[in-house]
Amino acid sequence: MATTKAKASAAAPEDAYTAAPFVPDGADLAALRRAAAQCRGCPLHRDATQTVFGEGAAHARVMLVGEQPGDQEDRQGRPFVGPAGKLLDRALADAGIDPGEAYVTNAVKHFKFTRSEPRKRRIHKAPNLHETAACGPWLAAELALVEPELVVVLGATAGKALLGSSFRVTEVRGTVLEREIHGRPQRLVPTVHPSSVLRADEREGAYRGLVSDLKVAARAMR
Ligand code: URA
Repeated sequence: MATTKAKASAAAPEDAYTAAPFVPDGADLAALRRAAAQCRGCPLHRDATQTVFGEGAAHARVMLVGEQPGDQEDRQGRPFVGPAGKLLDRALADAGIDPGEAYVTNAVKHFKFTRSEPRKRRIHKAPNLHETAACGPWLAAELALVEPELVVVLGATAGKALLGSSFRVTEVRGTVLEREIHGRPQRLVPTVHPSSVLRADEREGAYRGLVSDLKVAARAMR
């Protein structure tokens, strides 16, 4: 049976943020998701609507790791259901990756945002390294349970979370890396974050680049 460990202090200094005390031992994905809903390992839970945990096949062949939930994901409680997710779905289909074989998650499980004025639109704010590190135990637990053949790293935040702060997406995108991740050998294919395609001046070219990287991932799974 899953067991929950001690509670973390929400008033901890930044470098002490960690989800570790909230991650139950011996949990399956459903129990992890329930436990993650109670995570107070860093302050991001305070303003977010809810935890957005990963979703997909329990033993998916490929795990896609994004940055953090966006506005739509925060409201719906599901990863990649907003504009970036729609673009990602199209790119996966164009690359020949079956969404039924995928597990989709984020490096950080709560939406971080700013508001220019009260009641104004929420504007995405990238998580810092402390928040990303704090959330690492959830991603490690997802990787240990799903055991994907391949991880597709979507953008810089996911890359730094998994591969360290020296990660540069432009240097390694579209290549198959073999690294030890959370104590396990893992193959990974980094690419850009789908939101960067939506923001690109030359969107068609940026989209083709994303699909081309995802095709490398598709071939690496054969
Ligand atoms: N961007 C992400 O990185 N993840 C989501 O779930 C949505 C947008």
